[in-house]
Amino acid sequence: MNDRNRHPDHNRPRRGPSGAGSEGPSDGRLVEAHSQLSRDKDEPAEGFSLTPIFIVFLFCAFGFWAGLYLTRNSGGFSAGAFDLDAPKAVVAGGPVAFEPDIAKGEQLFLANCAACHQPTGLGLPGAFPPLAKSAWVAGAEERLIKAILAGLAGEIEVNGAKYNGNMPNIGANLKDAQVAHIATYVRQAWGNAAEPVMDAKVAEVRKAIGNRAQYNPAELLKEHPLESK
Ligand code: HEC
Repeated sequence: MNDRNRHPDHNRPRRGPSGAGSEGPSDGRLVEAHSQLSRDKDEPAEGFSLTPIFIVFLFCAFGFWAGLYLTRNSGGFSAGAFDLDAPKAVVAGGPVAFEPDIAKGEQLFLANCAACHQPTGLGLPGAFPPLAKSAWVAGAEERLIKAILAGLAGEIEVNGAKYNGNMPNIGANLKDAQVAHIATYVRQAWGNAAEPVMDAKVAEVRKAIGNRAQYNPAELLKEHPLESK
């Protein structure tokens, strides 16, 4: 009775290849699930789509803007474009205008004069006379210009105090415009209130005195006496 031996097997639930038992999914269900999974793969994934493209465009736009900016503002990549002392052309090609510039004057003063006369313009007692409230600075501009161009040596009285020092001919190495900026600054800083100085005046004085030695203060006073306040 071979059939009898096999009989119970017929009533047992069929097992799948995996042996998952009766609770396991049917073949049809498995196929359906897989086809769903393979469809899922094509759905849009997170990230890595629009943002990087956007950034690439942003960089391109920035590069483009930088190029435009450089082209417009580089002055043709010529060093001369940044020479702040270069004369400014007036509209319609008229004469070159000079404007005494306090800010430039201050920079030049700090670089050329402040070591002795101090950034405060107060000088150092016994060594360097003050420029603040000094009668030598105000009044006739020639006196100040001559002092800057040729220098001073010998006894001098400033604001009631006596000095006997030596000021080199600083202005000999400066341009007319630079001397004018300094002189204007010195005449208007620290409570001083004298007229600005033009570069043409500096050029005129420079030509008149030539390459002379330092002035003795008394000699300079003879040419340009101190104005009574
Ligand atoms: C190396 C130091 C030194 C430097 C730099 C110097 N001076 Fe003087 N300055 C002196 C001395 C010292 C005197 C007094 C000269 C004397 O005793 O005859 C003097 C005198 C003067 C005076 C007349 C006196 C007064 O106090 O008003 C003026 C104006 C003046 N200097 C302006 C300047 C200016 C502007 C600069 C820069 C361009 C300058 N000096 C740079 C040392 C200096």
